[in-house]
Amino acid sequence: MTTLITGGTVVNATGRTRADVLIDGETIAALVAPGSTALGHDLAASAERVIDATGRYVIPGGVDVHTHMELPFGGTAASDTFETGTTAAAWGGTTTIVDFAVQRTGERVQDGLAAWHEKAAGNCAIDYGFHQILGGVDEDALKAMDELVSEGVTSFKLFMAYPGVFYSTDDQILLAMQRARDNGATIMMHAENGPAIDALVAQHLARGETSPYFHGVSRPWQLEEEATHRAIMLADLTGAPLYVVHVSAKQAIAQIAAARSRGLNVFGETCPQYLYLSLEEQLGAPGFEGAKWVCSTPLRSREEGHQDDLWRALRTNEAQVVSTDHCPFCLKDQKELGLGNFSKIPNGIGGVEHRMDLLYQGVVDGKISLERWVEICCTTPARMFGLHGTKGVLAPGADADVVVYDPAGHTSIGYGKTHHMNMDHSAWEGFEIDGHVDTVLSRGQVVIDGGQFHGRAGHGRFLRRGLSQYLV
Ligand code: URP
Ligand code: ZN
Ligand code: ZN
Ligand code: ZN
Repeated sequence: MTTLITGGTVVNATGRTRADVLIDGETIAALVAPGSTALGHDLAASAERVIDATGRYVIPGGVDVHTHMELPFGGTAASDTFETGTTAAAWGGTTTIVDFAVQRTGERVQDGLAAWHEKAAGNCAIDYGFHQILGGVDEDALKAMDELVSEGVTSFKLFMAYPGVFYSTDDQILLAMQRARDNGATIMMHAENGPAIDALVAQHLARGETSPYFHGVSRPWQLEEEATHRAIMLADLTGAPLYVVHVSAKQAIAQIAAARSRGLNVFGETCPQYLYLSLEEQLGAPGFEGAKWVCSTPLRSREEGHQDDLWRALRTNEAQVVSTDHCPFCLKDQKELGLGNFSKIPNGIGGVEHRMDLLYQGVVDGKISLERWVEICCTTPARMFGLHGTKGVLAPGADADVVVYDPAGHTSIGYGKTHHMNMDHSAWEGFEIDGHVDTVLSRGQVVIDGGQFHGRAGHGRFLRRGLSQYLV
């Protein structure tokens, strides 16, 4: 099947141009000047399917490198399955996710990964890869890192937070980083000082400060900055590439910027919730409502200016990637586990469907350029995690993962179920977006068009990723 997307403005991280996109089967065959007969014939006449993108942007499908479908956490499990979550992603113009397989403490790493393959295989509407969470670094886990790299799982997440759950001690982190230096993998770090946080949590609860707001107060920026600094020093010492996930504090970004200015392979990821939402407005909402926005790292104070600083960091490349950290929990029966005790609220926000729209709003507001939008949401995440050439770029030979985005369109994230994620609420209720995902193709197949889902669970394939293509 050949498809021609005509009349649009093709936007890559490197620039924009008026071009038609010719797709042959699952891959992009050529970008050609509008109406060109360069390939020897009238493409529009010979293509089996023509998609009119007049007046719209044609961009690479979004690459969300931080999702948690079906993650067991906080006494429950994230509410999106691979089917519902990847379908919601497609609705929002995301055509690749990289989800986190989990090794629980005491479990073999390979068994944790096998369990994730089992959950995802045959159920995804879009392509997917895995990072591996290491819940316990020992000699077997270190050996398993090499094995996983050879199977296309080339990045490992460690936690300086959540003692007793995913937490790694500094010596474990050091050993995993040494291994990553040797096998080329990237270390992803949840950088918050977990033991210090646990002490603060106990003090707040003892004072009867039990509402969701105190989740944020008990995870102050100092403990994010400190852990980020410590992770950077360990990465400097060992030579491992370090990617700090879900950065929310401007002081943590400053640590990453300082490391980068020293030439280290240190990278920063942030998420839409840290760019738009705050401790005061969302976590501090009346009653238990703030539970919708309990995630870690937490939403930060607007008075302290973290949100504006994160936008600045995205412009200056102090931060390189925007992911969602999609980790959805319903209010009913899930977030409600923490009624009367914020520390029992399962941590996470759902947003896999809204990242492309929310970040496009940054273009509308003049905070980032059109090309930077594509770079931080599609191109860099693909390069960072070994998918460059196939994902995150519109170029001959790349997978035909394409979004037709309408800058004159509008997206209302309403109250109640106006989204496709398996949640009984949305963290983004009431957001009005200038811009709209019109058509989405995944490897040449139309999955979203005309306000309809045309995809299918099982279309999505596992991506064996290479090593990072973003290192200095
Ligand atoms: O609150 C969050 N971020 N939940 C998901 C787990 C994690 O730490 O990324
Ligand atoms: Zn985390
Ligand atoms: Zn996460
Ligand atoms: Zn439209």
